Amino acid sequence: MTRIDRFISEMLCMTRSQAQQAIRSGRVLINGSRCRPQDKADEDADTVSFDGREIKYNKYIGIMLNKPKGVICATKDRLSDTVSDLIPPELRRRDLFPAGRLDKDTTGFVFITNNGALAHDMLSPRHHTEKEYEVTLRDPLSDADKMRYEETVAAGMTIDGDEKCLPARIVFTDDPKFVHLVLCEGKFHQVKRMMHTLGNEVTELRRIRIGGVWLDDALCEGQCREMTAAEIEQICTKH
Ligand code: URA
Repeated sequence: MTRIDRFISEMLCMTRSQAQQAIRSGRVLINGSRCRPQDKADEDADTVSFDGREIKYNKYIGIMLNKPKGVICATKDRLSDTVSDLIPPELRRRDLFPAGRLDKDTTGFVFITNNGALAHDMLSPRHHTEKEYEVTLRDPLSDADKMRYEETVAAGMTIDGDEKCLPARIVFTDDPKFVHLVLCEGKFHQVKRMMHTLGNEVTELRRIRIGGVWLDDALCEGQCREMTAAEIEQICTKH
């Protein structure tokens, strides 16, 4: 059982006092009846509605966002748009945060959740959750470059003199400027710094997979959707 003011404020991204006001003015019903802020609702058995729309109580949710360029991975910023600004009202909750960061000019899969333990597992290098990136390079790779890149990346390279990366995987494509890079950690600017160390530069970067979950092709940049329970379970699994 959860107090209805807490239920409404958590599910609808309101402060507790805004939720109490809405409840007192009759906008919230439990099983079709008006209620008081201190009343409790059974999350599984009761039907709660707000302005006639049914509201489900989910303790944890996960959102898949296809981040466009120019948006930052934060919940609030004075100057730039954030990933939170892209969440539609029906998915907004006060406790959501992006699990990890993509750079402002990186596009693709951002996992947004209110599940701190899951976010921690996804980000922790100890859990080896894979993150796969599509990388467009400034300079095309010759066959000799490919061998050198593959060996260096697989061995666990050192960037900026003393920062040791975990072994990673690079996958070449028919386009000599376009590779996939699979990392198990998320150091600051890691892909760009790895490619820089190898003497190249990243011109475009897009994340397409986290753990066992691929970015949904149906999501245009800037769009997001709630993830299914099966997807959330797969977020920390191996591909
Ligand atoms: N590596 C980078 O350099 N930037 C990102 O946004 C993600 C990984």
